[in-house]
Amino acid sequence: MKDRGVVGGAWFAPAANHTPRTTQSSLTVPRPATKMPDPMPDFHRIEDLPPLAGHTVVTRGWVMTTRSSGKIGFVMLRDGTGYLQVVLSKKDVPEAAWEAFGGLTQETSAEVTGTVRADARAPGGVELTATDLRVIGPSHDFPITPKEHILTGAIGEHAGTLFATEYFDLGKAYLAQTGQLYVEAAAAALGKVYCFGPTFRAEKSKTRRHLTEFWMVEPEVAWNDSEANMTLQEEFVSYIVMRALERRKAELAELERDVKPLEAVRPPFPRISYTDALTTLEGLGSDIEWGQDLGGDEETLLAKQFDRPVMVFNYPRAVKAFYMKENPADPRTVLNNDMLAPEGYGEIIGGSQREDDYDKLLARIRAERLPEDAYNWYLDLRKYGTFVHAGFGLGVERTVAWICGIPHIREAIAFPRTLYKLWP
Ligand code: 4AD
Ligand code: MG
Repeated sequence: MKDRGVVGGAWFAPAANHTPRTTQSSLTVPRPATKMPDPMPDFHRIEDLPPLAGHTVVTRGWVMTTRSSGKIGFVMLRDGTGYLQVVLSKKDVPEAAWEAFGGLTQETSAEVTGTVRADARAPGGVELTATDLRVIGPSHDFPITPKEHILTGAIGEHAGTLFATEYFDLGKAYLAQTGQLYVEAAAAALGKVYCFGPTFRAEKSKTRRHLTEFWMVEPEVAWNDSEANMTLQEEFVSYIVMRALERRKAELAELERDVKPLEAVRPPFPRISYTDALTTLEGLGSDIEWGQDLGGDEETLLAKQFDRPVMVFNYPRAVKAFYMKENPADPRTVLNNDMLAPEGYGEIIGGSQREDDYDKLLARIRAERLPEDAYNWYLDLRKYGTFVHAGFGLGVERTVAWICGIPHIREAIAFPRTLYKLWP
């Protein structure tokens, strides 16, 4: 019998239960003709298995330990929602699966197909009798290096908008632009996570949409691709708007907010590729050229064409952050999206599927001349059990400004920080 170590959890809260692919929508907004890559196939989270005894399921997670006694193999798998013992019998699985089992190491990400079996002794009351097993991301020589971060040593978004400070004897540190890189690590431990906190950008933009300190909600979900990421966004935003309409009628009336446009905010939201958005914009008289980022004016012009938030996906790689996954169907673009609010409020969400290929990510870090040493831990997430994952950041003040219909973002936060405002 051999046994290979266990890993601990993290301090992030697991996100609420969510199964984007099965959601039905009552409204019909035509989807754009542009084809997105096929979404990941369906699978079950470990916490959902107990009622499925007797059923055949597919599940995914990371390997904690393995043992074998000759012809029977055991894998302890975790996916952030629970722990699952997988039992493989050499004679019942394909040769490739048995071979894959032999190569499993701690933190390997894997997909297992099998029959759920009730077993009172098992965590969660079930185990899985495997019929197949496949490695998704191998993990060689996994070193456990627990670390804590207050500040951040790595650039999250854009090197140009960092606030820097001296950090004792450890050199320069930066105020975090995003919690994303850390929630990616947490998603590898817990599956579905989010963080919610203040973020900082040394933005020199003096617009009604920019603060230098703003709050951001950032969900990160293991096994979600870009399409599932957009579905989560439209459900999230619809839910927030619905709750505001339900519970904050009096306040909206006080603000003289016309709630009609808000009532239309239900999934599905229109989705339009960056390339198609450009065609639309050209038709509306804009002189934007392929390769340029959408500016505030273009966002407003485009969003005006729709009665609810619009999601623009697959932007040119050159105008977006280094961590976004290259679009296999068109490597000039990445698998990302922005959500543009109606009524001229602009981008309220930026999100993407993350680059999960070690070599591609490293190449991007080098191409952008980012300090490689600061990203070793982030690259390690692709080295030890890499996995498809996606997430997004919703800017709270921009969202509040839009829902409340207030003209300037500074009115959506108690102590606004802008280019010219530091007190009170
Ligand atoms: O698009 P951004 O820069 O995305 C990120 O930071 C990702 N790391 C998020 C993720 O994937 N986890 O910012 C996300 C959102 C924007 O859509 C916008 O709503 C808001 O944050 N935001 C700002 N709000 C106010 N002032 C600023 N200067 C803002 N910059 C971004
Ligand atoms: Mg953005």
